Amino acid sequence: MKHATLEAPESAAVSTQAPPRRFSDLPGPPPWPVVGNALQVSLHRMHQNMEDWVKVHGPLMQVRLAGFHVMVVADTDLIGQLLRERPETFRRPSRMQAIMREMGIPDGVFVAEGEHWARQRRMVMASFAPQQVRTYFPALLNVAHCLRARWLHTADQATEGAQDIDLQADLMRFTVDAISGLAFGVDVNTLQSNDDVIQRHLDKIFPTIWRRAHALVPYWQVVKLPRDRALDESMRLVNGAIRDFMAQARVRLQAPERRAAPQNLLEAMLVAADAPDSGMSDEDVAGNVFTMLLAGEDTTATSLSWMIEQLWRNPVALARAREEIDRLLATPEGPLPMAQWTPEHLAQLDWLEACIHESMRLKPVGPFNLVEALKDTEVAGVPIRAGTPVLLVMRHDTVRDEVFPQAERFLPERWLPEAEHLAPASAKRVSMPFGAGPRICPGRFLAMLEIKLAAAMLLQTFDIAAVDTPDGRPAQEHMALTMVPVGLKMRVRRRTAA
Ligand code: HEM
Repeated sequence: MKHATLEAPESAAVSTQAPPRRFSDLPGPPPWPVVGNALQVSLHRMHQNMEDWVKVHGPLMQVRLAGFHVMVVADTDLIGQLLRERPETFRRPSRMQAIMREMGIPDGVFVAEGEHWARQRRMVMASFAPQQVRTYFPALLNVAHCLRARWLHTADQATEGAQDIDLQADLMRFTVDAISGLAFGVDVNTLQSNDDVIQRHLDKIFPTIWRRAHALVPYWQVVKLPRDRALDESMRLVNGAIRDFMAQARVRLQAPERRAAPQNLLEAMLVAADAPDSGMSDEDVAGNVFTMLLAGEDTTATSLSWMIEQLWRNPVALARAREEIDRLLATPEGPLPMAQWTPEHLAQLDWLEACIHESMRLKPVGPFNLVEALKDTEVAGVPIRAGTPVLLVMRHDTVRDEVFPQAERFLPERWLPEAEHLAPASAKRVSMPFGAGPRICPGRFLAMLEIKLAAAMLLQTFDIAAVDTPDGRPAQEHMALTMVPVGLKMRVRRRTAA
């Protein structure tokens, strides 16, 4: 495999005159004795620490974290190339797989590797093809109706025009209901019942994976703190719920006609697993149901939260999104009722889609990705050993003026033909919020549909009175496996037409 070469920045301590460079010669923040760079990063701001270092040391550097010698790559061409070299040359970090297994999460497509991953990926991809996602639309509409009802209730309850909505929490209810309905074919409805059992348990998992991945000592293997015991209990309950849903689905699948036309993700996976040569077990199915719940909830809700904040802070873009929805989701008598919306209607919302791309460029929920070398190899001509972690900084080229002019500004028009000069020709290969290569996010079409649906519902039904943060400034970024905004509160008013 031929590798791209990177020019070292002028500030870098490495001469490009003497290839091959050694990994240990790469520039990087000076490590401290014993602890390396570990004490120079903050757990919940690690993405910003990396981004800051890249600005100083260049797009190919080294850091030493938690006993690991980590290569850091921020050049998007090179990132795309490494992501495409999976599963043969790079894998997801083995540590993440070990931590998830220890927590009791069975392997799903996110952590599986090699042939096991390839088999799971084939099964999962079939369930997420754009055509298949369209069949989920009625169920998604139903969940969007519940979110609308919840916010209408909040708006109408307000005595002085508006009441606070905990934006991230409500959107997590929306996405957990959407994905559970889709995965299990049952109505979980945390939006209306206030019974957020599954959501409360899932919410503990990402932060725990993040904390444990960066813990200096695996103390929980020796002594469990209350939060570790709470996590064990959550894992027991979620795994128990998944097994119950699987048992119910198996009963339904005894009917040959149901087996011939499975109705949801879980049934489809069970049928696939039962095929004689599938190589899939019930454990694999459980792992993938768990994976969908985890991968589909936080990411989509967080992307929506960020976009709503961006729109609120950019009134011109917000007004254009509202105008587009009023124009395209309309009848001669007035707004087109949500019950009549179709995926084709949402597909026409070009400005809204551009807002999503722009928001994900500035606020990717995964500002970095991590891969691990499976064998001795080289990156940009620099040899690395098998097992070397390579941290990919996804938000570097995406926020450089040379690549996206006026990069700091939220300008959705750069994603449309009207303002192509504001984006590089290959914009979608530079901004990669869903990753790239064979392991690109299989849920991306579903996620885009959910985001458009919720945003269109919001703008058709409500006026946004405010999107506030605790300190009145743009929301702070808090890293806990995904990059979430801190403390967003939204206030809405029922539009007179609603
Ligand atoms: C806006 C929402 C979402 C974002 C930003 C997002 C982002 C990502 C990213 C960055 C990756 C890693 C890709 C790579 O390593 O190249 C990924 C993987 C994955 N995502 Fe998503 N995702 C979203 C929604 C979803 C949804 C709704 C689902 C499913 C219900 C999902 C399921 C998965 C799975 C299963 C993987 C692992 C794929 C593999 O390793 O083969 N994601 N996602």
